[in-house]
Amino acid sequence: MSNLVIVGAQWGDEGKGKLVDLLSGDMDIIVRFQGGNNAGHTVIVGGEQYILHLIPSGILHPGKVCLIGNGVVLDPTVFCQEMDTLAAKGVEISPARLKISYKTHIIMPYHRALDIAREKAKSAANRIGTTGRGIGPCYEDRVGRTGIRAADLCEPDVVRRKIELALPEKNALLAMYGKPELKAGAVFDEVMAAGARLIPHLTDVSSEIMDGAAKGKNIMFEGAQGVHLDVDHGTYPFVTSSNTVASNAAAGCGVPASMLDRVMGIVKAYTTRVGTGPFPTELFDETGAHLQTCGAEVGATTGRVRRCGWLDIALLRETVRLCGLTEIAFTKLDVLTGLDEIKMATAYEYKGRSYLYPPQTHNALAEVVPIYETLPGWNTPLRHIGAWEELPAPVQAYVRRVEELLGVPVTIVSVGPDRDETFSRKAGA
Ligand code: GDP
Ligand code: IMO
Ligand code: MG
Repeated sequence: MSNLVIVGAQWGDEGKGKLVDLLSGDMDIIVRFQGGNNAGHTVIVGGEQYILHLIPSGILHPGKVCLIGNGVVLDPTVFCQEMDTLAAKGVEISPARLKISYKTHIIMPYHRALDIAREKAKSAANRIGTTGRGIGPCYEDRVGRTGIRAADLCEPDVVRRKIELALPEKNALLAMYGKPELKAGAVFDEVMAAGARLIPHLTDVSSEIMDGAAKGKNIMFEGAQGVHLDVDHGTYPFVTSSNTVASNAAAGCGVPASMLDRVMGIVKAYTTRVGTGPFPTELFDETGAHLQTCGAEVGATTGRVRRCGWLDIALLRETVRLCGLTEIAFTKLDVLTGLDEIKMATAYEYKGRSYLYPPQTHNALAEVVPIYETLPGWNTPLRHIGAWEELPAPVQAYVRRVEELLGVPVTIVSVGPDRDETFSRKAGA
């Protein structure tokens, strides 16, 4: 038996959804362990596009069981919309194959309102560029011990009482931002309209996984966002509000850490970031425009154009250390076609010293100067290629150099958005 954790190795949008979908074929249970509908995972199967925000990307494989762990924050309205959209496309959605932890926290209308109001009130320099989905305020209530959990939906009186307790403080904050107050009745009605549909899906996720493991089932832990958006280890405060590192897969669904056998980092062949925050290898020239255009780098959740830049090995070294990556899936190599030369930052210079890892002092990542290594580019389109051996020599050299610098094998290569545009690579090839 082999369980697998999937994490985004950079700042999100590395192609996690595509890889989770692809690898679900060999798995039995797929579980999301953190984040919420701030995520946007685009999966293309046989030309048909699916965009998933909350439901694990394994749902597209018939027969697989998909779970949402306690570490996730769930907006019931969005969840129901996503179920309906998938069902309309012929995907089987039933309580038997899509289950939610009783302990999952519920995103409330006041979380969304506060997220948006706070961001609007901030100066451009301080704005995080959140997705406005209420993620941060919901996690605040979780640690503040005032949150509403999925189990509460089974007892409407509990939900009503918790809303009434929470609203005076939320409304005072909204008033401070010049926003209208929310009425308890309207909040209750909105949440319960969708919340009632969640009840048949509720389960003890920890038991589901452990029972499955005891029967020899393979478990995949699906991460959202990226390691450098982790609330502790990312570019704080320009981060999301959950732990995105691999070890949170255990806490985020209630299983022992010893279950996490393999950790696959999804690495995009260049770097992107949505929202504000430091980005040492960001490009503002025509190469950046090439990456943005050829990579179709527009967010699936908010429609924002993603910032683009060269691959950053120093950042990825930290990912390897934080998550113990056992393997890498390298995505979007096709996007680099047409560039004369390709650069990667192998270290940083900061205050007269060179650094192999991001320096840890406040705001240092905003001031480091990347030290680049330059490799030859290529002009061959890659999307028709179906095997490692068929890739042009400069492409293979680029992948081997990344692998050498990180000390982690690249086992999967992706050269297009479709499920089929992917191939595996033998160690040392
Ligand atoms: P996620 O959030 O990590 O799941 O990534 P997103 O789905 O937000 O962003 C990745 C985008 O790149 C999606 O539009 C995918 O369809 C697309 N994609 C994934 N792999 C490849 C690839 O190898 N080549 C190209 N051109 N696109 C890819
Ligand atoms: P996937 O799973 C890229 C970013 C936002 C913002 C910061 C905080 O598709 O890779 P939040 O709404 O979480 O409070 O916003 O985090 N962010 C993402 N960026 N991909 C994501 O998810 C993201 N989820 C959040 O842009 O900078
Ligand atoms: Mg995404």
